[in-house]
Amino acid sequence: MPAPIGVFDSGYGGLTILKELKKQLPHYDYIYLGDNARAPYGTRSFETVYQYTLEAVNWFFGQGCELVILACNTASAKALRNIQQLNLPTIDPNKRVLGVIRPTTEVLGNFTTTQKVGIMGTLGTVQSNSYPIELAHFFPGLEVYQQACPMWVPLIENGEFDQPGADYFVKQYMEALFKQAADIDTILLACTHYPLLEAKIRSFLPAGVQLVQQGDIVAASLAKYLVMHPDMAQKCSQNGHLAFFTTDEPAPFEKQASLFFGQKVEAKHTDLA
Ligand code: DGL
Repeated sequence: MPAPIGVFDSGYGGLTILKELKKQLPHYDYIYLGDNARAPYGTRSFETVYQYTLEAVNWFFGQGCELVILACNTASAKALRNIQQLNLPTIDPNKRVLGVIRPTTEVLGNFTTTQKVGIMGTLGTVQSNSYPIELAHFFPGLEVYQQACPMWVPLIENGEFDQPGADYFVKQYMEALFKQAADIDTILLACTHYPLLEAKIRSFLPAGVQLVQQGDIVAASLAKYLVMHPDMAQKCSQNGHLAFFTTDEPAPFEKQASLFFGQKVEAKHTDLA
């Protein structure tokens, strides 16, 4: 039976991806799950992020989903490969789990003229080196500079992203990135939470530097994937429905989620175990 596409993040960030999926692929049904009770993932170990993400993927499969998008760079960096290679073959080889790093690295090099790009992400994403490794396949010769921004997700999750206190940490990480290479001309927000900080980041962005966000890139890539895999497209239900789940309390989730998603959200609590 056709089922919704699962969209996962540690918390609210994946909603910035879902917003674009809904724009570009409005006919599909989506189930969003935020593991808010255990967010943030960005500073957690490889093993922990893998275990939490696998639990979430199994939860989606329990809901009948055939296709799950890890709308989280940290989970994509630390858990996706293991899930695809070690878990899916035994759980169900016909189901698919896709991430956000691959589609982003397929196009990121097209944005730069200096061939120097900056990647701003969580500590986990940066330490995994997933971006430099993947970008080397698609754009050899690209110089990739990474900056971990461990304070950004907590600022965002706590609703401080538009407050004056956020300026300090935005400026600090931007300066640290440009200290690595002054002529970076393209910055990727390699964390699905960061679009909430866009206004602040732009206020510290040197002239002529572009800011790239992942939502429309991931949505365009999924649209292409579904055209190339009609068998999977048929397994995804198409009634334009949305459902939201959180591992924490629904009331605060609903309040915060509308900021990320741009419209009112009704959520239910779920346990993963
Ligand atoms: N939104 C997640 C990402 O894209 C990370 C948030 C977290 O640290 O949990 O990396």
